[in-house]
Amino acid sequence: MAGKDLLSISDLNPEDIRLLISNAVDMKSGGWTSSLGGKTLALVFEKPSLRTRLSFEIAMQQLGGQAIYLSPDEVGLGHRESVPDVARVLSRYADAISVSTFSHGTLETLAAYASVPVINALSDLEHPCQALADFLTIYEKKGELAGLAVAYVGDGNNVANSLLLVASQIGVDFRIAAPGGYQLQEDILRKAREYAVGSGAHILCTEEPRLAVTEADVVYTDAWASMGQEAEAEPRRQVFAGYQVNEELLALARADAIFMHPLPAHRGEEVSENILDCRQSVVFDQAENQLHLQKALLAGMLGSLEIPLANY
Ligand code: CP
Repeated sequence: MAGKDLLSISDLNPEDIRLLISNAVDMKSGGWTSSLGGKTLALVFEKPSLRTRLSFEIAMQQLGGQAIYLSPDEVGLGHRESVPDVARVLSRYADAISVSTFSHGTLETLAAYASVPVINALSDLEHPCQALADFLTIYEKKGELAGLAVAYVGDGNNVANSLLLVASQIGVDFRIAAPGGYQLQEDILRKAREYAVGSGAHILCTEEPRLAVTEADVVYTDAWASMGQEAEAEPRRQVFAGYQVNEELLALARADAIFMHPLPAHRGEEVSENILDCRQSVVFDQAENQLHLQKALLAGMLGSLEIPLANY
């Protein structure tokens, strides 16, 4: 990972993914020695954020480096200043740039002109750090990854894209239940199917939530309308009405299945009132694990970290 961009899960191979998860496990348990003293991460965020922003900032702080948050109004990415010029300037100050943006194209342009590593902290196409932290959580809860089945119910959005790309690389079955017109992007699906040939993962795309969830090890959902889709919120509520993850749907999964959501959640919409608080819910472990995953990622990108692979 050293010196490389992370714009997509496709920038990683299965060994990278396993190493990141393994390093994050080690760092979480205190078995790490990396220091990012003197290193600076610039956070260029066009979108509001609680978890992603804080996890990157605290990760840098805990590793001895610093993070500087730049709000949309300050930078004016593509408005006040061109994206290539912002990339060139940030590269003169910071050791890496973490970007949360509406358009994946903006991220790619920024990475093309930056001379330091660029991390996708969220784009309309992918949310790779979220997906990696989620698989860290799945590994912690299940003790293994290969052979599990993840059922995603709802919008085939950026989070779903990244989850699928991780799953298909490391041999985790991925089932998505989404209404017609809201399924995964065809090019992401094509790439995942190529990965699955090598890993043995099975991929199922259906419009039927019950089919996806039955006997799954993990049940996952996300907001029906992502940031930037506020105008579509009401029509989406109608389209997705049959896609709520509730106690009845979760009961179709394996008895030891876990429930996941990247948060923020909308109780009464994509989740029933109490599902976030049920015994199977691991949503706050997910949120915490964003910190541990970002630490492993930043240490691998910017540090001189030497952590032995965990035995898994
Ligand atoms: N899960 C997630 O990305 O949360 P934030 O939007 O708060 O960063």
